[in-house]
Amino acid sequence: EAASKAGYEHFMLKEIHEQPKGITDTLEKRLDEKGFIKLDDIRLTKEQLEDISKVYVVACGTAYHAGLVGRYAIEKFVKIPVEVEIASEFRYRDPFVDDKTLVIIVSQSGETLDTLAALRHAKKKGARILSITNVVGSSIARESDDVFYTWAGPEIAVASTKAYTTQIVSFYMIALYMALKLGRMDEKEYKRIIEEIKLTSGKVQQIIDQDSKLVEIAKAIMDRQHGFFLGRGLDYNTAMEGSLKMKEVSYIHTEAFAAGELKHGSIALIEEGTPVIGIASQENLFEKIVSNMKEVKARGAFVVAIAQEGNTEVEKVADMVFYIPKVDSLLASILTVVPLQLIAYHVAVLKGCDVDKPRNLAKSVTVE
Ligand code: G6P
Repeated sequence: EAASKAGYEHFMLKEIHEQPKGITDTLEKRLDEKGFIKLDDIRLTKEQLEDISKVYVVACGTAYHAGLVGRYAIEKFVKIPVEVEIASEFRYRDPFVDDKTLVIIVSQSGETLDTLAALRHAKKKGARILSITNVVGSSIARESDDVFYTWAGPEIAVASTKAYTTQIVSFYMIALYMALKLGRMDEKEYKRIIEEIKLTSGKVQQIIDQDSKLVEIAKAIMDRQHGFFLGRGLDYNTAMEGSLKMKEVSYIHTEAFAAGELKHGSIALIEEGTPVIGIASQENLFEKIVSNMKEVKARGAFVVAIAQEGNTEVEKVADMVFYIPKVDSLLASILTVVPLQLIAYHVAVLKGCDVDKPRNLAKSVTVE
């Protein structure tokens, strides 16, 4: 039953549509009557938290991109340095890990071999392991000291969607929990952010409801062989995930660039008509990303902008604009990825690709 498409043409589309529920379940089932986060599966005490001097986030693929957002949340709220690493690199680099290190392992399936091997490596060096996973009783869940389950429900499509948004929500919750416990955030701000996260569920639904606009964007770029995603700050992380989605399901070669870095080489790739999707959700970086869009536009790019409602300034530079509902920049990553998932999905469908089982890919990679 849970594995049926429930009337959707593909699992990927069904799972994109399940995100509002995934966000609500992950968050609200873990709030107590007074609105505080209770992390029932996590036994980290205040003393243990005080002892942590560094956090590593280790994961592969989409989970790695969620980790990049996680770094932002933890550093901002908890004020502990965080490094994010690809699991297959982490282990062989012999990273500096000791018993004051918290290693956060992120894996939808809980079975990715590189990620599991990284977990074992860190554990052997004395780190405390906290995993964020979607599968109860998975290998990664079993071998971790603490587990935080994303309550996304089973994810069948190879391209991960709802696992990603719920992983981001999980990171925010863990960061808020740690920050409050350590007295690094006041209760008012803590409550305000929780209320904002609650609202993201309905906002994701509003994006899904505007799907027909995303079909138009997909039609405009589907015939191209190359394309680019640009972003700054949290939007750069979204650009990376958007680019991965596009490659995975539609086979268009895309790259994500930190928009400010473009001028140091990559801008040479822009030709007449090259699609460039610019993500402009971060209020403090808005002018900067708009000016980067102008740079690529002046070199012939076909610019698609993803911006917050009301920031109509982008219309002057972009060929097409998709507006997400107004949101605190801090939490925008939960929203900005959704139009990118849908654009990638529609391009794949329009091109006749095998959306749920793209060539050469596996849902869970249990080999090195
Ligand atoms: C595979 C999947 C990706 C996924 C990655 C990590 O490559 O195709 O969608 O992001 O593994 O999977 P995990 O289950 O560890 O999150």
